[in-house]
Amino acid sequence: MCGIFAYLNFHANKERRHILEILFNGLRRLEYRGYDSAGIAIDSSPLSQKCITSSPPPLVFRQAGNIESLVNSVNQEITNTDLNLDEVFYFHAGIAHTRWATHGEPAPRNSHPQSSGPGDDFLVVHNGVITNYEVLKETLVRHGFTFDSDTDTEVIPKLAKFVFDKANEEGDQTVTFCEVVFEVMRHLEGAYALIFKSWHYPNELVACKRGSPLLLGVKELHQDKSSNHVFKDAHFLSKNEHPKEFFLSSDPHALVEHTKKVLVIEDGEVVHLKDGGVSILKFERLNGASRPASVERALSVLEMEVEQINKGKYDHYMQKEIHEQPESLTTTMRGRLIRGGGSRKPKTVLLGGLKDHLKTIRRSRRIVFIGCGTSYNAALASRPILEELSGIPVSMEIASDLWDRQGPIYREDTAVFVSQSGETADTLLALEYARENGALCVGITNTVGSSIARKTHCGVHINAGAEIGVASTKAYTSQIVVMVMLALAIGSDTISSQTRREAIVDGLLDLPNKVREVLKLDEEMKDLAQLLIDEQSLLVFGRGYNYATALEGALKVKEVSLMHSEGILAGEMKHGPLALVDENLPIAVIATRDACFSKQQSVIQQLHARKGRLIVMCSKGDAASVSSSGSCRAIEVPQVEDCLQPVVNIVPLQLLAYHLTVLRGHNVDQPRNLAKSVTTQ
Ligand code: F6R
Repeated sequence: MCGIFAYLNFHANKERRHILEILFNGLRRLEYRGYDSAGIAIDSSPLSQKCITSSPPPLVFRQAGNIESLVNSVNQEITNTDLNLDEVFYFHAGIAHTRWATHGEPAPRNSHPQSSGPGDDFLVVHNGVITNYEVLKETLVRHGFTFDSDTDTEVIPKLAKFVFDKANEEGDQTVTFCEVVFEVMRHLEGAYALIFKSWHYPNELVACKRGSPLLLGVKELHQDKSSNHVFKDAHFLSKNEHPKEFFLSSDPHALVEHTKKVLVIEDGEVVHLKDGGVSILKFERLNGASRPASVERALSVLEMEVEQINKGKYDHYMQKEIHEQPESLTTTMRGRLIRGGGSRKPKTVLLGGLKDHLKTIRRSRRIVFIGCGTSYNAALASRPILEELSGIPVSMEIASDLWDRQGPIYREDTAVFVSQSGETADTLLALEYARENGALCVGITNTVGSSIARKTHCGVHINAGAEIGVASTKAYTSQIVVMVMLALAIGSDTISSQTRREAIVDGLLDLPNKVREVLKLDEEMKDLAQLLIDEQSLLVFGRGYNYATALEGALKVKEVSLMHSEGILAGEMKHGPLALVDENLPIAVIATRDACFSKQQSVIQQLHARKGRLIVMCSKGDAASVSSSGSCRAIEVPQVEDCLQPVVNIVPLQLLAYHLTVLRGHNVDQPRNLAKSVTTQ
């Protein structure tokens, strides 16, 4: 859902080539957030800091298509205009954007940076949606501005120019970049993370956010040992004038190769980079009026390694992420499973982020799971075990639907928000709604410092590591494991379920091995993909714990391989879907051993009776029995505790989706029209 990135070097001699490469690389790291158009703005000549009057306007490049299209067009332009790639910039402030279109088709004029008009006095890159842009546009048009794009963003640089010109007309030649941006923010409604660059303020960048994520990364080229990395008032380390590099990014993936020192910018804050210093300001209410005040923030250290964001030996991120599930699951469980010993010390789980809230959760009248897409499916897979071990009714809400209906949420509810990115706009809106209604809000996310992690009362990080493929795979299995651990923690005060809980803890400890085993089906799934390559559709039937597997398997197939696929609750088969069955339509049935096994056997018989073309996923050793009533292709998977079976069962379907996509020639990591983190409604 759009990625924004900026790079500012201070007192550091950098060639134009280097600056461009940093901006392009930043965009490549963020490309999974949106990939239908891209753009950058860079300084055109290496002038000294204060030399405004003679400075030529910045160079702006915008291109429809992916990042490589932008790179090619910039290279072309540089060759045509004889720009020197070796030219050295002592200071430089560049901004960049990769787009997932919301307002206006993918086209250069709708790409960012959006401009204030001729001369590019103010340039802006934006992630989010400005909801009152039409009103702002009308006002600006009345003041003589003309608009070139269909975007909501274009009002922002134009508003900045309007504010700047007005201040100057009124004689305020000292208006700062930060003051201009504050004034702009006062008029904006909606969600945004913004980075501003201005010809009037060379070598400065201003960034701000409300709703959409934004991080600042700081790299000192010569480390100052006395630095405590606290931003206080205007100037951080500026007196020493050490060479520094600053990075602004929608997420940490684009920062980690440069620095691990980051600051997660909060809603309402404005970050001003100037003279090698950082100042952070926020609106504060004083004597009834609101005015910007300086805030103190400390840097934190990113817990992410560069290897995590590289593909390593794999061809695609999705493939890598499927295959690293034994490791990601191990990390998810690390330090959280207590092996126990003897009857006095039962095997149990420890979820540090919840320990002060477990009593409140146990007293809840209801637990409500809230999420979108794959995260919703993970919650659905975990619902039965949570109901069983907690004895509390668990209801399921798709975030956007809860918000549309303004469904009932009460103070006595525990609302659990599940989100890989922690930034999904629909889930965030539902979170605000649940908070307003007084529910205890628990976050389950993969992104430390994300909006959902910060806005919930308590929570658990799934620690699956960076997930870059747009189709969620390893986050799904880690989410299920965390929610099973949540069920174990809530139920840990119930003696009657102790044996069951201990069996689940044993199952969790062995789960990475079982996933390693099921990954050996890779070739078999590639083979199956080859058979299905030209099909129009694939149905997936599941029930009980594996209804979620059917939904998630179908979601994976449709979103990456672009083949229609539908997950169906097998209990509903006779109530409609049976009409579709014939000898041509491929149908996958999940029939591993659990309480629903005999019912699934009867589903298989009914499908055989109608000459259905079946692929049956069954437990090891059951292939012969599932094929006894008719021919089918059986896929045997290791049997685990029923509540953990969805973790094992999804893996062959992830592999199938992956191979189908490669064989059908589609983009695995960046499926058509999708973006990883959906930060607009
Ligand atoms: C599908 C997929 C999406 C996300 C959904 C929610 O593979 O990734 O369905 O699950 O957009 O995203 P998060 O989990 O970041 O809230």
